[in-house]
Amino acid sequence: MNTNTKNTVNQETKQPLDRLSGIIDRVSNLPTPPLVYQQINKVINDPRTSAFDIAAIITEDAAMSAKVLKLSNSAYYGLPKQVTSIKKAVIVLGVEAVRSLVLYTGVFKFFGDEKLDPMFHQEYWRHSLLTAVGSKLFACKGAGMCNVETEQAFSAGLLHDIGRLLMHIYIPEDFAAVTKLSEEKQIDPFEVENQLLDYNHCDLGSLFAQRWKLPDVIGHAIQYHHTPAEAGEEWNNVSLISLADKIAVSAFDVDEEEDADLTDIFEEAENNLGVSAYDVRQTIAQLREEYSKAETFVRMAKDN
Ligand SMILES: [Fe+2]
Ligand SMILES: [Fe+2]
Repeated sequence: MNTNTKNTVNQETKQPLDRLSGIIDRVSNLPTPPLVYQQINKVINDPRTSAFDIAAIITEDAAMSAKVLKLSNSAYYGLPKQVTSIKKAVIVLGVEAVRSLVLYTGVFKFFGDEKLDPMFHQEYWRHSLLTAVGSKLFACKGAGMCNVETEQAFSAGLLHDIGRLLMHIYIPEDFAAVTKLSEEKQIDPFEVENQLLDYNHCDLGSLFAQRWKLPDVIGHAIQYHHTPAEAGEEWNNVSLISLADKIAVSAFDVDEEEDADLTDIFEEAENNLGVSAYDVRQTIAQLREEYSKAETFVRMAKDN
C-alpha cells in the first residue's frame, strides 16, 4: 500500500503554497528549461522584439534550427515554396508557435521517455493533445468571455496535466497508489490524490510551471483546471481549459458505441464561456479533424 497513506490530510486546511513546500524536495532534480527556451522567454514579451531576434536565438541551436525548418516545410503549413532560412521560417510559423515548439521539445527531451511505460505515455499524450486542440478551438469560440490567445490555449491544454507525468516519473509509488485506488473505486484520480496524498498533480505541475517560467495563462491552467472557481479573475480563462479537458474525457475516451452524456458540459460551456450547445457539438466534430494536424506539430517537437 502507498507509503503516503499516513500523510492523509484535510486539504481544506492547506493552501497550495504550503502543499508545494512539502513536495519540493521530492522533485529536487527537476530539470531547468533548455537555454534556447530561456532566451526566447526573456525577449518575447518585449514589444520591440521581432521575428529576426527570435531567429538569431534559434540559429545558435543547430537541432532547433533543423526542427524549425522542418516544421515550416511540413504539409501542416502547405507552402508552395521551400523555406530555407530560419528568419523566413520564424515568420511563417509565428513567434508564439516557435516558442511552443521549443517548449515542447524541452518537455519531450526531459519527460518523454516512452520506453519506461509506453501504455501510460500513449494515453497521457493522447489526452493532452485532445485537450490542447479543444482549448484552441474554444479560445476562438469563447472569445467574448475569455481572452486566451489561441497558441497559448493550445500550450495550456497540452501541458495542463504535466503534474501527472511528473508524478509518474519522479514519485512513481504515489502514482501507482493513486491509479490503483482510482481504478478499484472508479473515482477520478484527482479526488484520490486529495484523499491519499498531501499534494495533487496540479500542485506538482504548478511547481514545474514556476521553474520553467511558463506564461501565466499556462501556469493558471495547470494549477486550477480541476478547480476553476479558485482561479479568481482568471476563472473564465481556466474554464476554457477545464472544459476542453472534460470534453477530451467524455466525448473521446468513452467507448464509441456509448453515447456520452454531455449535459453538464453544455451547461458549463454556456455559463462560463457563453458557448452554446450547438457550438460545443461543432467543436467536437472539428476536434476530430484538427487532432491529426496537431499531431504533426507535436511529433515534430518529439523527433530528434
Ligand atoms: Fe488534471
Ligand atoms: Fe486532464
